Amino acid sequence: MTRLVVVSNRVPSAAELAPGQEGAAVVGGLVSAVKTLMLRQQGLWMGWSGRTTTRRRSDPPTIELSGGPVELATIDLTLDESNLYYLGFSNRTLWPLFHTFPERVDVRHDTFRAYQRVNERFATSLFPLLGKNDLVWVHDYQLILVGEYLRRLGWKGKIGFFLHIPFPSPDVFEILPWARDLLNGLLEYDLLGFHTQRYRQNFVDVMDREVGGIWNDPHYAVGDRTVKVRKFPIGIEPGTFHDAAMASTTSVSTELSLPNDDDHKIVVGVDRLDYTKGIPERLKAFERMLDRHANMRGRVTLVQVTQPSRSRVREYIEEREKVERLVGQVNGRYSDAAWVPIRYLYRFFPQTQLARFYHDSHVGMITPLRDGMNLIAKEYIAAQGEDPGVLVLSKFSGAAVELTEATQVNPYDTDGTAEQLYQALRMPHTERVRRWRSQMNAVTENTARTWGESFFQELQLS
Ligand code: G6P
Repeated sequence: MTRLVVVSNRVPSAAELAPGQEGAAVVGGLVSAVKTLMLRQQGLWMGWSGRTTTRRRSDPPTIELSGGPVELATIDLTLDESNLYYLGFSNRTLWPLFHTFPERVDVRHDTFRAYQRVNERFATSLFPLLGKNDLVWVHDYQLILVGEYLRRLGWKGKIGFFLHIPFPSPDVFEILPWARDLLNGLLEYDLLGFHTQRYRQNFVDVMDREVGGIWNDPHYAVGDRTVKVRKFPIGIEPGTFHDAAMASTTSVSTELSLPNDDDHKIVVGVDRLDYTKGIPERLKAFERMLDRHANMRGRVTLVQVTQPSRSRVREYIEEREKVERLVGQVNGRYSDAAWVPIRYLYRFFPQTQLARFYHDSHVGMITPLRDGMNLIAKEYIAAQGEDPGVLVLSKFSGAAVELTEATQVNPYDTDGTAEQLYQALRMPHTERVRRWRSQMNAVTENTARTWGESFFQELQLS
């Protein structure tokens, strides 16, 4: 049997990978997407333990193995590596670059060197664990060069790479002084996967401009290297997610002591705290809606759940301050004895509770400035029932390609978004049901499982 070896910066906990634990904790995301596949294929999952140690750079890498049906193999990083590779090059250079925020891209040679070193260390730690029939599947922007380092060590087997974030246009990509290094690294894979046709096309355009090879869809060839390039839109397990919404007994009104009557509307937003998510823009659109439609004052609450993320990176600290200032501004302006317009929750909630929030709300506002896919949009749809809420979705998210019946907005356009939010709050039942059904079809068509299976099969064939 072919063993599947997954490599990602973060690894799931051993508990999440145990068979029969298809509970709420693993709904959505990479873990649920590849877990079944991993259990079937007796997988190995390799990544960073999340710990930092004082190991010297010259010390040989150590790898810890968990045992179990899916084996976890983890390595520690030094504090320096975590600062330069993870907080630095991954999250202050590649993250803003790939999300098309060129003014935020930090160009530093020391962080790129650390990125190369850590990617190489992933490869040297993994290589001795590989058997000749294994398929290796590397994930995301933190580890683009792992494939190339594995090849240098002599690995001849198949390697695939999936990018979970957008791939930018050539004008943006060429800002990076190491553009060619990354592209050469990508050419070492057998299969490259992107969420959408647009990101895939951007990759081809960047290759044409920077490297100059031959595109014979779906193959890109440069010299003796050929890579297959396909789109694989990631999904969720809609059934599991719907059950999670129904399993939680605490309604959003009870949890937050909101008025529980049909006349009081709830808008929900859930995001990692990240400047790509457009949280300030959403708050401004909500405020604009209240400015323009006095009839909504006292009758609608925005529940904004913001999950702490990368909180040691300066841009994320600044973003948090910005969001909290705006929440204070809007609440200061409009609150009265009986009503606070924005309920801001800066913490983690269990998936079941979030699912219930989605289920109970009248509108879900998922309005990133740029987002590879955004699974919360799909989860929102899956959590709805007989009386579905309306999804207000950014046209700049990958999910917008499939969820064409969502109320699509341009989050940079405050007036336009405010107006569409107002319309969403007033949408009649029949239209809500019609739109939700169409979106539910899309969510059911591309699930987490079909995503994992189709990448795996395509990699076997390449
Ligand atoms: C995005 C990325 C993932 C990353 C996640 C959380 O979804 O595509 O690779 O793991 O954000 O970010 P973090 O920096 O906490 O791992």
